Amino acid sequence: MSGAGPPYWAYPWAGGLALARYLLDHPETVAGKRVLDLGAGGGLVAIAAMKAGAREATAIDADPDAIAAIALNAEANEVAVEAVCGDPLDGPAPDVDLVLVGDLFYEPSLAARTTVFLERCGAAGIGALIGDPWRAHLPRARLERLAEYRLADFGDALDAAATASAVFAFA
Ligand SMILES: C[S@@+](CC[C@H](N)C(=O)[O-])C[C@H]1O[C@@H](n2cnc3c(N)ncnc32)[C@H](O)[C@@H]1O
Repeated sequence: MSGAGPPYWAYPWAGGLALARYLLDHPETVAGKRVLDLGAGGGLVAIAAMKAGAREATAIDADPDAIAAIALNAEANEVAVEAVCGDPLDGPAPDVDLVLVGDLFYEPSLAARTTVFLERCGAAGIGALIGDPWRAHLPRARLERLAEYRLADFGDALDAAATASAVFAFA
C-alpha cells in the first residue's frame, strides 16, 4: 500500500459498472477504437472496453495502488490494458478516440476539472461516455442520457441492485 488515500480502486463503483455494462451491450461504441479509462480505479471500464473489441485501452489513475490493481485485473481477464499513474485533467487532450469516465463526479472541484477536460477533448474531436449514479456534481446540462441501469454502488452488498445509474454522452 502506498498510503495515497482511500482505496477507491478496490471496488467497482456504480458509475463504472453501468458504463462497463453499456460497452458490453453496445460493443460498436468502442470496437476498433483507442480508449482512455479516466479515473480507472481497478480498471473495470478499460477491461470491458477491451472485451467489447477496443483496439487499445489506457487506464489512468492518480493512485499508484490502482495501477497495480489494474495490471492484476487485466491479467485475470486476459486483456491488455496500459496502466498509467497520473492526473491528466490539466493537460492536453489525450491521443485516443474516446474517453470513458466511470464515476468521477463525486466531488465538486474534481467534477469541475473533469468537465473542463472533457470540453478540451471535445474541441479536439474526442468523444466521451460517462457512467454515473446521478451524483450531485454531475454536469447534467451537458449530457445526453443513453441508457439506465440499477446496480450496486460502493457500500452496497455486491448483489444489491438498488442504485439508479445511467450512461451519458458528453455533449
Ligand atoms: C469513484 S472511483 C471510480 C473508479 C472506477 N472508474 C469505477 O467506476 O469503479 C474514482 C477513481 O478516480 C481516481 N481519480 C480521482 N481523481 C483523479 C484525477 N484527477 N486523475 C486521475 N485519477 C483520479 C481515484 O483515485 C479513483 O480510483
